[in-house]
Amino acid sequence: MAARRSIGIVVNGVTGRMGYRQHLVRSLLAIREQGGVQLADGTRIWPEPILVGRDPDKLAAIAEQHGLTEWTTDLAEALARPDVEIYFDSQVTSQREKAIRQAIAAGKHIYTEKPLAEGSAAALELAELATAAGVKNGVVQDKLFLPGLRKLKRLIDGGFFGQILSVRGEFGYWVFEGDWQDAQRPSWNYRLADGGGIVMDMFPHWNYVLEELFGNVRTVQATTATHITERVDERGETYTADADDAAYAIFELEGGIIAQLNSSWVVRVNRDELVEFQVDGTHGSAVAGLRGCKFQHRAGTPKPVWNPDLPLTGKSFRDEWTEVPDNDEFDNGFKVQWEAFLKHVVAGEAFHWDFTSGARGVRLAEAGLESAKTGQRISLIEGA
Ligand SMILES: NC(=O)c1ccc[n+]([C@@H]2O[C@H](COP(=O)([O-])OP(=O)(O)OC[C@H]3O[C@@H](n4cnc5c(N)ncnc54)[C@H](O)[C@@H]3O)[C@@H](O)[C@H]2O)c1
Repeated sequence: MAARRSIGIVVNGVTGRMGYRQHLVRSLLAIREQGGVQLADGTRIWPEPILVGRDPDKLAAIAEQHGLTEWTTDLAEALARPDVEIYFDSQVTSQREKAIRQAIAAGKHIYTEKPLAEGSAAALELAELATAAGVKNGVVQDKLFLPGLRKLKRLIDGGFFGQILSVRGEFGYWVFEGDWQDAQRPSWNYRLADGGGIVMDMFPHWNYVLEELFGNVRTVQATTATHITERVDERGETYTADADDAAYAIFELEGGIIAQLNSSWVVRVNRDELVEFQVDGTHGSAVAGLRGCKFQHRAGTPKPVWNPDLPLTGKSFRDEWTEVPDNDEFDNGFKVQWEAFLKHVVAGEAFHWDFTSGARGVRLAEAGLESAKTGQRISLIEGA
């Protein structure tokens, strides 16, 4: 029987949507169910979650439900434990920086939900502090592990597109106002004072997606809106929604690709998936969603002629595309990244989704908000 290497992980924010479902259940507990994370020498990394939060009843209930015994409402106490090697944060964004500073001071390795901090200066400082303290660090970049985006990456790596010209992305769905149907996202997302807003929420994702697939972002021009200004919270109380709930942005990338991404919580879905990216290249195009990815080669490109007087007949434009086959098994993206981080911590394997990369995501969000406020196109290139 291969050796088991236990590793204590503080999971702070485990009562929240992301903390509970994606990180505890679908990642850490799923890793235990599969017998741990296997290293090259056969050792199996075994996560031991220590649940941290504000509400003892909720923590005790989660622990009991999953056969766990370790929980506390005292973060300092959890961080003082010698068996705790990793601090994980999925609290509301506004609480993150303070807790990460504590974890760095305690000498723990840190993995966190995005955005790393509420501002880029703070995010960069956390990156510097973590480096100076010699602790390993990482930020969740789950979209990179979505089957649809992995298939898209496969097309890029295989040279399918020729020269990539542009990327057009649509992300969003209708988030109910909370009056006649409950809202399906927490109310803090719609209040600026609580770290809400779709730019802070989504631009960190767009930054790593663009960087990893197409090139670093050189400039951003964004228009934001708060389309729905009054919502009803979890307690049934009406509140003023002052955070941006939609962002319409254009990004110029290194290498000249233009990416245009709409992010909205006030749009009704008329697409195959909640997010879709269309990539057009000289030799072919593709549309990638969460799971699927379809392509059209230059040789299979129809020649539409503009004639509004005639109804379209024959094959619809959508039918002219071909699905990229799976050719692989796609595990939950959060779990895949957790496995990589655990191997990074225990066995020193490479992991480049670190605080510095997370800080670039926060910087992009900040630049997007600045652009929306000033009407200017904002450059992200130093000295430009
Ligand atoms: N990677 C992704 O796709 C993704 C998706 C959604 C959210 N997120 C990020 O995950 C984090 C949590 O988001 P969520 O949707 O799970 O939120 P949530 O409201 O469901 O959970 C927030 C958690 O923070 C805790 N918390 C600590 N201090 C708090 C305070 N002062 N006020 C309110 N809650 C407090 C709550 O108890 C809860 O456990 C956010 O930073 C968000 O940006 C990431």
